[in-house]
Amino acid sequence: MKILKFDCIDSTNTYGKSNFDNLDDKTVIISDEQTQGRGRFNRTWISQDCDNIYLSLILKPEKKDYLANLTQYMSVIAAKTIETYNVAPQIKWPNDVMINNKKVCGILCEGVIKNNKLSGVVLGIGINLNANEKILEIINKPATSLNIELEQKIDKDLFLKKFLDNFFENYENA
Ligand code: BTN
Repeated sequence: MKILKFDCIDSTNTYGKSNFDNLDDKTVIISDEQTQGRGRFNRTWISQDCDNIYLSLILKPEKKDYLANLTQYMSVIAAKTIETYNVAPQIKWPNDVMINNKKVCGILCEGVIKNNKLSGVVLGIGINLNANEKILEIINKPATSLNIELEQKIDKDLFLKKFLDNFFENYENA
């Protein structure tokens, strides 16, 4: 697993798609901030620098049938990682992770087609780890952040390690 870290980028998914051919399978692209973070249906994903997680995985498995369930798989991994903080997240179909009916993370999976074939996906996730109330107010749907639920700052590196370890531990069986 290779990790590419940026202070600021337009969007980790956009970077992943633009550089897909030059990036290895299982590359992790992570940025402290995004200027054009995107959600599903071309919505904006607010991505200020506040120790939240904005990351995308480059996945190019040999067996392409792995790719079908990856979005749901990632939501389960995010929920499992959040559970280790003694909160009870719920998964809202198809892939939003919620705490107390408020969104804490969103997932954007984008396929990359080459010569009419699916060559892999860029699987992006945004997780509100340390957002403040002001940022959450800008979002036009009920949203929360793990630090607010726990009333304490969340160690981003530790969360990230748990999340990536969980993800790749069972990825080949997803
Ligand atoms: C959604 O709930 O609509 C999906 C949000 C996905 C946001 C993440 S943040 C990292 C990656 N880069 C993006 O531009 N979007 C995804």
